Amino acid sequence: MRVGVLTGGGDCPGLNAVIRAIVRKAENAYGDEVVGFLDAWDGVQERRTVQLDIRAMRGTLPRGGTVLGTRRGSPYDWAEGPQHAREILAELGIEGLIVIGGNGSLTVASQLHQQYGLPIVGVPKTIDNDIEGTDFTFGFHTAVQIATDAIDRLHTTAESHDRVILVEVMGRHAGWIATYAGLAGGAAAILIPERPFDLDAVCNAIQARHERGRYASIIVVAEGAEPRSGSSERASKELDRFGHVKFSGIAQRIAPEVEAKTGFETRVVQIGHVQRGGTPTAYDRVLATRFGIAAIDAVHDGAFGDMVVLRGMDIVKSPMTVAGSRTRTVDPHLYDDVATVFFG
Ligand code: F6P
Repeated sequence: MRVGVLTGGGDCPGLNAVIRAIVRKAENAYGDEVVGFLDAWDGVQERRTVQLDIRAMRGTLPRGGTVLGTRRGSPYDWAEGPQHAREILAELGIEGLIVIGGNGSLTVASQLHQQYGLPIVGVPKTIDNDIEGTDFTFGFHTAVQIATDAIDRLHTTAESHDRVILVEVMGRHAGWIATYAGLAGGAAAILIPERPFDLDAVCNAIQARHERGRYASIIVVAEGAEPRSGSSERASKELDRFGHVKFSGIAQRIAPEVEAKTGFETRVVQIGHVQRGGTPTAYDRVLATRFGIAAIDAVHDGAFGDMVVLRGMDIVKSPMTVAGSRTRTVDPHLYDDVATVFFG
């Protein structure tokens, strides 16, 4: 069988581990030939491919990013794009295509399967961990570790100066990274998109904390966090060329208010793309490898239209339509009953 693979959307640590696992099992267990499409759907539209074999994937397990390159965008952005994609896959003899992507890529993949019959199996990926249907996505654990390491370092400098430090992490619609890194890093407050915040209440808690003799406060802020209406500054929301909101610094915007309201010097650290770069953690390498193996098995089962997901300890299949059905937001129990215990 000839199987195609592409990576779409933002990159995340563990993509190469998925591709490596697909190639290993495809070649050794099924005798398949694996073709990689470069730069996501652009590579399909423009017939830019690379032969993927065990040799080509050597040494890639610990490497971040994706050897295939990635882009946002989809065949629907091109005139007759979906039809063209179907013709090219047929012309190249691709009988199954594995799309490794986030919410957007999996929604598009599901539409291409339903509307144009493209033989696609999905693999969910994102550092945001916000894909419905899977308990965890690979890349998330790595991002949390990077953010936690940064918070650990920020504690000592914040303590030395009796400062408040706002640490902004990624998380557009869901505050998973903020909640996990904030819990792991001992944050005094965690602001997430799921819970619009009241800055006065946050600042009062910080003041009370310092009155109790604490010399520093770390506040972790998800980039998509918003103040309760009218209670504070909002982040500006420009769009990128694919119509995605470009979040630009909610922490930077509220920092002057935090400083004015608490009376403590306040600094901002935006971790940004550092949390998406570099080597995946061992956990993410293993999860990504399991997803890759399950994906090539799913292709051979003819499970087109499905994605592979983690449920508890098991990797199972689920319809790709589930990925686009809603954003998987932070577990309210984790935030309300666990994280908030440590606030202030
Ligand atoms: O969706 C993953 C993600 O890392 C988000 O957390 C973040 O908002 C976005 O991608 C950043 O996108 P870009 O790499 O296009 O700046």
